[in-house]
Amino acid sequence: MREFMFVLLLVTESTCRSPSKMCEPGCDCRGDLKFTICSRAHLTKLPIRAPPSTELLDLSNNLISAVPKHVFSSNRKLRVLLLQNNNISTVEDGGFSQLEFLQKLDLSWNQISALTEGFSIGLAFLRELQLSHNLLTSLDSRSFLHLDGLQRLNLTNNSIQTIQVRSFAYMSSLRQLHLQDNQLTSLRSGTFSMLRSLEVLNLAGNQINEMDLAVFNPLTSVTLLNLADNQFSTVFFKTFLNIHTYSTHILLQGNPWNCDCELQRVFRKLHSIQRLFLDDYYNLTCWDPPVLHNHRLMEVDSELCIAETVTVLIITITVVITVLAAMLMGERKKKKRRNGLHWTQQREFSDDSDF
Ligand SMILES: *[C@@H]1O[C@H](CO)[C@@H](O)[C@H](O)[C@H]1NC(C)=O
Ligand SMILES: *[C@@H]1O[C@H](CO)[C@@H](O)[C@H](O)[C@H]1NC(C)=O
Ligand SMILES: *[C@@H]1O[C@H](CO)[C@@H](O)[C@H](O)[C@H]1NC(C)=O
Ligand SMILES: *[C@@H]1O[C@H](CO)[C@@H](O)[C@H](O)[C@H]1NC(C)=O
Repeated sequence: MREFMFVLLLVTESTCRSPSKMCEPGCDCRGDLKFTICSRAHLTKLPIRAPPSTELLDLSNNLISAVPKHVFSSNRKLRVLLLQNNNISTVEDGGFSQLEFLQKLDLSWNQISALTEGFSIGLAFLRELQLSHNLLTSLDSRSFLHLDGLQRLNLTNNSIQTIQVRSFAYMSSLRQLHLQDNQLTSLRSGTFSMLRSLEVLNLAGNQINEMDLAVFNPLTSVTLLNLADNQFSTVFFKTFLNIHTYSTHILLQGNPWNCDCELQRVFRKLHSIQRLFLDDYYNLTCWDPPVLHNHRLMEVDSELCIAETVTVLIITITVVITVLAAMLMGERKKKKRRNGLHWTQQREFSDDSDF
């Protein structure tokens, strides 16, 4: 009986202690206190109390609006920090600075409009950063300064218009870069410099209509390059020729192609490069010229150079005819002159004989 009471006391004590002292009300601390789940807990502010042993902290679906400096300093064992679906607009410099074991940080579906240099301090071991559905408009060399170990960066559905050169310069481990559904209009050389481990580059759903010829040069590991749903009317062969990999799949559908002979030539040359795979070539449709609008490029590509061939043929024939005509005329004149000479000589002769 005394033993039973003792156990009961212990159990009551531990269940009382963990929620009140170490676990924020509204949160659920479990798994040897390695998981602290505070999703949908109506939290508006940090810090919150979580056991120091917490490795996964789920703060998603709350109304937190700021990440103050050093706010996670009593949770240094965190490996996964989930903050998606909050109202975060401010991350103070050093907000995540003491999380040296953090591997995944999810900040998607927030209101973040700028990344300061201090944002990434102390996140050298972060592998995955989710920043989709925020309000970012530009990236520069300070945005990801301390993220040397990052492997996956998701920037989907922001409003990014400009990426300055060297924005990703410190991320030589990056394998996936998701930039789809932003507002990029051009790609400049140097934008992707140093991304030599990058395997997936997703640029779909932007408004890109021009690229520097060398923009993809640094991507020596890229296996998937998604350029679908942009504003390309044409592309240059060299842009893709410059990708030096063993095998790269390129997606290009959903662009307003100007189907002319030049475009047909570019694709014919691209098809001839063994290491490049144009997976959705079958789906490319023409925007221009109006007569080919909505036609599949594949169905008309054999005809695109016909007009040009005909023109060339006509010019060639004309030239040949002119030359032939000139030669003929020349022959005729010569003959005439010879005949004339003969005639004159005859005349002269007969004239002589007349006398
Ligand atoms: C989100 O944060 C802003 C300030 O950054 C505040 O004005 C707004 O009321 C917050 N929204 C909610 C739903 O809490
Ligand atoms: C990137 O974010 C989008 C939107 O939140 C999501 O649908 C997608 O799965 C994410 N991709 C990766 C590879 O994390
Ligand atoms: C994501 O971005 C695309 C393109 O800008 C837009 O059409 C779509 O509505 C966005 N999605 C969300 C959930 O905001
Ligand atoms: C081509 O388009 C069809 C219909 O939109 C789609 O189902 C298919 O997956 C596309 N093919 C490729 C390779 O993207």
